Amino acid sequence: MLRTSVFRLLGRTGASRLSLLEDFGPRYYSSGSLSAGDDACDARTYFTTPIFYVNAAPHIGHLYSALLADALCRHRRLRGPSTAATRFSTGTDEHGLKIQQAAATAGLAPTELCDRVSEQFQQLFQEAGISCTDFIRTTEARHRVAVQHFWGVLKSRGLLYKGVYEGWYCASDECFLPEAKVTQQPGPSGDSFPVSLESGHPVSWTKEENYIFRLSQFRKPLQRWLRGNPQAITPEPFHHVVLQWLDEELPDLSVSRRSSHLHWGIPVPGDDSQTIYVWLDALVNYLTVIGYPNAEFKSWWPATSHIIGKDILKFHAIYWPAFLLGAGMSPPQRIYVHSHWTVCGQKMSKSLGNVVDPRTCLNRYTVDGFRYFLLRQGVPNWDCDYYDEKVVKLLNSELADALGGLLNRCTAKRINPSETYPAFCTTCFPSEPGLVGPSVRAQAEDYALVSAVATLPKQVADHYDNFQIYKALEAVSSCVRQTNGFVQRHAPWKLNWESPVDAPWLGTVLHVALECLRVFGTLLQPVTPSLADKLLSRLGVSASERSLGELYFLPRFYGHPCPFEGRRLGPETGLLFPRLDQSRTWLVKAHRT
Ligand code: MSP
Repeated sequence: MLRTSVFRLLGRTGASRLSLLEDFGPRYYSSGSLSAGDDACDARTYFTTPIFYVNAAPHIGHLYSALLADALCRHRRLRGPSTAATRFSTGTDEHGLKIQQAAATAGLAPTELCDRVSEQFQQLFQEAGISCTDFIRTTEARHRVAVQHFWGVLKSRGLLYKGVYEGWYCASDECFLPEAKVTQQPGPSGDSFPVSLESGHPVSWTKEENYIFRLSQFRKPLQRWLRGNPQAITPEPFHHVVLQWLDEELPDLSVSRRSSHLHWGIPVPGDDSQTIYVWLDALVNYLTVIGYPNAEFKSWWPATSHIIGKDILKFHAIYWPAFLLGAGMSPPQRIYVHSHWTVCGQKMSKSLGNVVDPRTCLNRYTVDGFRYFLLRQGVPNWDCDYYDEKVVKLLNSELADALGGLLNRCTAKRINPSETYPAFCTTCFPSEPGLVGPSVRAQAEDYALVSAVATLPKQVADHYDNFQIYKALEAVSSCVRQTNGFVQRHAPWKLNWESPVDAPWLGTVLHVALECLRVFGTLLQPVTPSLADKLLSRLGVSASERSLGELYFLPRFYGHPCPFEGRRLGPETGLLFPRLDQSRTWLVKAHRT
């Protein structure tokens, strides 16, 4: 559609055509709505990952959650106006029965287990280039202050009362379950035991006097919030699921446990015999990070985007907004939900021995390679299956061959002996398609390429907004293929720099391909930061020319000067992404045996 409109614009003649280009052209090809002056981008945004349980070492599913948040945040920073407008937190969830039991099983004091595993998450995220601005641990003193304050607010608003809770509790999922969500599972010796229908984890019967939160009062307010904000939960099917849950009864929620049973947590203020429910404790981390209860938190709340896995949707889309409304605050602006990674068709679990270690993957496939794989293959709406052959195949075809090959073809010394960004010739490639003349060399497919790459930044931004990062990467990859087709079609290696007929067209072919590469490099920064840096540096693009606001694609085609023309290429001539060997695929096979 945009292609038609730009061609309509370009089809006009004379002065009016030029002024229209001045007025509209740059906006069209510079992804105007993505630039610094954009209202949406002037506002602050606070991105969060879930905080991770420290009962076991991180796996690729955890890294995936963090990578999605990282890519969203990096893309937002690329839109400007300044990185100060974003905040990005992650951390570890260290209290509760699950951790208390894991520490006891490991023969460790809970603090020892927490320190050890929290450190593993921090190291992993550092290695994986997770660009968080904050890392929170729920065992920190600042968090205890925030949680106890939040509790006090709920109490003072009459939303907590004492009552007896009797029912099923799942320590692995840290949640209460109604009878209908529990089933009997046969054990190894023929007897059966109760498990959660959703997660398959064991449950136990509890009967305790606890503090109870008046969750039932919030059914209607939550429905109003979701109906009034159709984008609150993305992708849409998850929004729909939550509305369906809210059609059912919403019982009050027990928000504390007896301290004699659960000692590893934050005590209820004024009642040491009770420990605050770990989910209430954990959810408040999002406020602790931004300075709650000090007023400074208000500059980041509710401009918040939570990134979460589908298994914790109920906690984030029902309990958390209800707690916030109860405390007189607004629910978060957006909740982005993703599905899970399975391994060779099975759920990842310690007992199945099929847990994929993300650090091994980062070493084996490189940081950028593995980031690209998870974000390119992970689809938020459905579970995705992991196996090593898939990683090697994808990275070889899209990063090594298609993108790396394209860069190499356009910058290799034998084809580009001056090692500069060549000039674009407007007579070889006039901005108006369909012109004929002795020097016109561009064909219909070439105009299609220019149009596809010109609209790519906007398309990519829309996919990010809809939390479909894999589609953004698919769109980039498709344009890379189209650009390779363009180079193949015009075979610059058959053209001669010495020939006055060939030379302007040879330069133009390389110029267009380098311009496409510049767009790809810019758009890949949120996903493959080092690879994108290498690519942009090779093209001679400086640090201040890498934001979306600066992305004026192929300005010469639109009648504007191009700052890159004649510029020397960067000195780094190494491979952009080395091909991987299929024999590197033993990782998951080893787990299968
Ligand atoms: N501690 C809670 C979150 C509290 S947030 C206030 C928790 N922790 S978790 O460690 O179990 O999970 C953290 C994140 O990892 C969740 O978003 C979860 O969906 C995600 N994943 C866990 N296993 C996963 C896969 N197999 N695949 C993808 N993501 C997965 O829940």
